[in-house]
Amino acid sequence: MSGPGRSYRIASIPGDGIGIEVIGAALEVLGAAARQSGKYTIEATHIQWGTTFYKETGSYLPKDFQSTLKKYDAVLFGAVGDPDVPDHISLWELLLKMRGGMQLYANIRPIRCFTRPRLDADPSHLDWLFVRENSEGEYAGHGGRSHVGQDWEVATDTNIYTRHGVRRIMRFAFKAASNRPRKYLTVVSKSNALRNGLVLWDEVAAEVSKDFPNVKWDKELVDAMTVRMVQKPWTIDTIVGTNLHIDILSDLAAALAGSIGIASSANLDPDRKSPSVFEPVHGSAFDIMGKGIANPIGAIWAAADMLAWLGEQESADAIMGAIERVCKEEKVTADMGGELNTKQAAAAICEALSATK
Ligand code: NAI
Ligand code: MG
Repeated sequence: MSGPGRSYRIASIPGDGIGIEVIGAALEVLGAAARQSGKYTIEATHIQWGTTFYKETGSYLPKDFQSTLKKYDAVLFGAVGDPDVPDHISLWELLLKMRGGMQLYANIRPIRCFTRPRLDADPSHLDWLFVRENSEGEYAGHGGRSHVGQDWEVATDTNIYTRHGVRRIMRFAFKAASNRPRKYLTVVSKSNALRNGLVLWDEVAAEVSKDFPNVKWDKELVDAMTVRMVQKPWTIDTIVGTNLHIDILSDLAAALAGSIGIASSANLDPDRKSPSVFEPVHGSAFDIMGKGIANPIGAIWAAADMLAWLGEQESADAIMGAIERVCKEEKVTADMGGELNTKQAAAAICEALSATK
């Protein structure tokens, strides 16, 4: 038998809390998938950026983090956040710096229901693809505070929408919708109240739609979208929205489908100039960190999405098949009603993987 042909260099950044636990699990499954395929190898390099690194060096990321990451084909990230550090510092100094600095403007968050949904719905109706604008909007980082601590203190966060930024995410979303069987896109907005930025958002959506005549699309205001997700889940397929709106809707979707612990997130540079960053949707989960009970499925799904992005679709499909199988057999963690810990849940997925083919 000839040896594997392709080799991928992965930067593994577990970060903080349960990020460390679930990335360990995801790397095990990646190794098992590579061995089973026999067509490629994964060379994962551990990078220790996170709160411990911050406490030691005063920064979450070194100044040259981009040139470091550019040596890799992709990044597998866990989570950032520590009880000792204000959340806005940890998130901005690590994750948002990576997303913004490397222009990972398309954030893809698929959702599927592998077990029982949390509402009276057909599990097959919870099969959605969220596309989140990941570089501007509410998280553009424009704003400030003045007269701090005084009665007339002012604090602002300015939402930024550029025609360029909106156009590129709309094009990405219409294309993503056209690649799915239903070819149906819902543009989430709030252009009744936000009468500048989100009116531009709607206008650009309508312009871009003309280039995708095979995609049906509609518009939903974000508040009504939460109702539609709960009451008419079958009317939804691909969804595009702003940075904040999809941040919220994708957590709701994960909870409806069973648990926040299953959801994955891909921060993509569609131009492939920078490595894309794959991570679970959840954070570092202060309440369960260190206990070894976190659900590893979100991180493992992120690893599968990473393999698909690198061109190893067959392996990605095999991992998703293994996830479906363990969920059917209820070999899952407590958040999904099971009894396994993180390591056991990952081992079950590796076992299901080796049983396929
Ligand atoms: P969180 O996602 O960490 O936790 C929310 C709830 O979901 C908790 O009850 C937690 O136990 C549960 N949960 C999350 N992941 C789970 C898993 N894999 N298995 C089982 N249960 C799971 O969100 P929270 O509590 O708002 O934030 C905690 C810290 O994480 C903060 O510092 C926050 O800024 C940070 N954060 C970081 C993110 C990232 O790095 N991408 C995303 C979200 C939050
Ligand atoms: Mg979030």
